[in-house]
Amino acid sequence: MPRLSKYTFTSITPRTGLATAACALMLALLAPSQVLADSLVIKADALVDVTNNKVLSAPLVIVENNIIQFVGKQGTQAIPSDATVLDLTGHTLLPGLMDMHVHLTSDANLHGYRRLKVSTPRSAITGVKNAQSTLMAGFTTVRNVGAPGYADVALRDAINEGDVLGPRMYVSGPAIGVTGGHCDNNLLPFAYNAQSEGIADGPWAVRTKVRQNIKYGADVIKFCATGGVLSKGTKVGAQQFSFEEMQALVTEAHLRGLTVAAHAHGTSGIKDAIRAGVDSIEHASFLDDETIALAKKMGTYLSMDIYVTEYILGEGEKAGILEESLAKERTVGKRQRDNFTKAFNAGVKMVFGSDAGVYPHGDNARQLSRMVRFGMSPMQAIQSATIHPATLLGKDQLIGSISNGKLADIIAVKGDVMQDLSLLENIQVVIKDGVIVKHQQ
Ligand code: ARG
Repeated sequence: MPRLSKYTFTSITPRTGLATAACALMLALLAPSQVLADSLVIKADALVDVTNNKVLSAPLVIVENNIIQFVGKQGTQAIPSDATVLDLTGHTLLPGLMDMHVHLTSDANLHGYRRLKVSTPRSAITGVKNAQSTLMAGFTTVRNVGAPGYADVALRDAINEGDVLGPRMYVSGPAIGVTGGHCDNNLLPFAYNAQSEGIADGPWAVRTKVRQNIKYGADVIKFCATGGVLSKGTKVGAQQFSFEEMQALVTEAHLRGLTVAAHAHGTSGIKDAIRAGVDSIEHASFLDDETIALAKKMGTYLSMDIYVTEYILGEGEKAGILEESLAKERTVGKRQRDNFTKAFNAGVKMVFGSDAGVYPHGDNARQLSRMVRFGMSPMQAIQSATIHPATLLGKDQLIGSISNGKLADIIAVKGDVMQDLSLLENIQVVIKDGVIVKHQQ
């Protein structure tokens, strides 16, 4: 049987469904032990070293049994005689990208009332397709923050067990929220008695939801601290959970060793979530100076989805987004981008979070060039999508940089990426767990 890491899948692009499916099937049929026995040697023109803030020229990377064993200059280290040599002359190597805010089981074409027709099993199948597009776009790790029916847990497990192809997933299960809040389903009248799975009111009810999510496989807890853009009938700036509820939720999650991500647009909700001890604030649109200072003091990460506004205002109506949500987005987008610049300049920790699922999976990297437009250097934007998320997840010993002892999650892109981050919207080579899952000439 051929060894998997010697495969180069030349015809795979994010949306060539058949080729990708065939590739997934091959991956599923081959025994992982045969992959892990290989040593893989990669040569390229440059390597982005996110831990030392520099770009290494003419790099050589040696991977054995999925662990990076050597990173240095070509010609300074002997190449193992049985190694597969991947010659990526003309390419730059980067750590696999990481997106801290995705919804792999959501379809970007099914917004508003269209979403009501989607069953949980159907959303899991959608997730299989989106997991592939995400990985082919160079995102080797994602944090999935909110999915009904634990479809995200099923998808994560299927990926980890080698049944389907996708990124390393850290998942939350159903997002926790108040009755009628952003994390509830407010589309139907009272007679339908519709309620999302994560709804809980009061500190103990909230703790029970945390325990339930852990019971069914969550790696992280997601909750809604304020209203949102895409939910019906919520005020985007208004706080929803009280401080007491947030404190109970965070205490319970931390007790069990899980991190917490809080959806929060409005100022008071962001502040209370930070004071309650959350690990990351999602969206963080209406920051003020005091809140920025608080986030800095508490070491809270901000995950600000500053690309998605372009999609919502450009394509949202066609995708079924409600008019009231479009109106809310018109008040959020610009302020969020201005505050992104302010918070970053103040030295708040930032991670890349896109909200892909609201927009098409595989287009995640579009946000990187916007992060540069709104204040980061290319290196800082890349760090926000590699080493910083690894640290937020508590996995920086394993992933987040191309360094000795870490797992081989590596991507390669043609051209001078440090001059133009939009090159990362088209990744030629993706290696996850030491396996070449995409190689486009
Ligand atoms: N899921 C988020 C919400 O509904 C999307 C916000 C998108 N807008 C933005 N400017 N980031 O609130």
